[in-house]
Amino acid sequence: MPARWLAAIILAAPSIAHAGPLGGPDLASAQRGYAVYAQVCSACHSMRQLTYADLGGLGLNHAQIRALAAARKVTDGVGADGRPARRPGRPDDHLPAPFASPQAATLANNGALPPDMSRLALTRPGGAPGIAALLTGYRPAPPGFSVPPGSYYNPAEPGGLIAMPPPLVDDAVEFADHTRATVPRMAADVAAFLDWAAHPHRAARTRIGVGVVLYLSLLAMLAFLLKRRIWSNVHRNH
Ligand code: HEC
Repeated sequence: MPARWLAAIILAAPSIAHAGPLGGPDLASAQRGYAVYAQVCSACHSMRQLTYADLGGLGLNHAQIRALAAARKVTDGVGADGRPARRPGRPDDHLPAPFASPQAATLANNGALPPDMSRLALTRPGGAPGIAALLTGYRPAPPGFSVPPGSYYNPAEPGGLIAMPPPLVDDAVEFADHTRATVPRMAADVAAFLDWAAHPHRAARTRIGVGVVLYLSLLAMLAFLLKRRIWSNVHRNH
């Protein structure tokens, strides 16, 4: 009787549904990518849609999130002296923007605006792999190719020129898991982080999807067994 078999599936379902990967993000890589963002990219690029609490989706626990948020001061309201008051950051604060306005950001970057990174993996042609290709794409311009001041040669950029100086050098960050921070490693990790950030609900969707498929398979099997049982007498009496 397949009853024991069914029980095994029912017991296994929750653990399979929580196992993640099945198309879900590589969280270790995305966590390292957050370190690259925080220590390098955030000097120029904002990430307005993300709160510190969202980093829980990367596998960071409450204490880590509170520590990260509290490490910076946030301007909030007016103090007793009539000046803007500052307080330690809280988990529901958004990640800080490096410039007060797009105008200030453009002025500080030779007339080019570093775009907000919240959805960059969706808006950049080629998605996350395209971002990694751009970060590893800087090289000397071929002879005869003229590079104006404030521009850098990068064949991964349409037209071959970008106003962003090469942001990564080997060992620019130190990873908590002791992975060696080479340029290709950091590029792949920050791309994984930006991919995760651009699809904040994908991990949950994958989990729910796996659960739904298992549940429907189980239901289909029960329906089949029931049908056999109901019709068995009819066949025998034939
Ligand atoms: C010194 C400031 C600075 C730093 C640091 C920096 N960027 Fe940029 N970034 C820019 C500017 C300015 C632009 C706009 C370039 C242009 O318009 O030509 C840009 C553009 C980009 C683009 C192209 C955006 C698009 O819309 O196609 C990507 C991708 C990008 N940056 C990723 C990163 C990543 C990832 C990091 C961290 C590893 C980083 N940047 C660090 C200044 C910076």
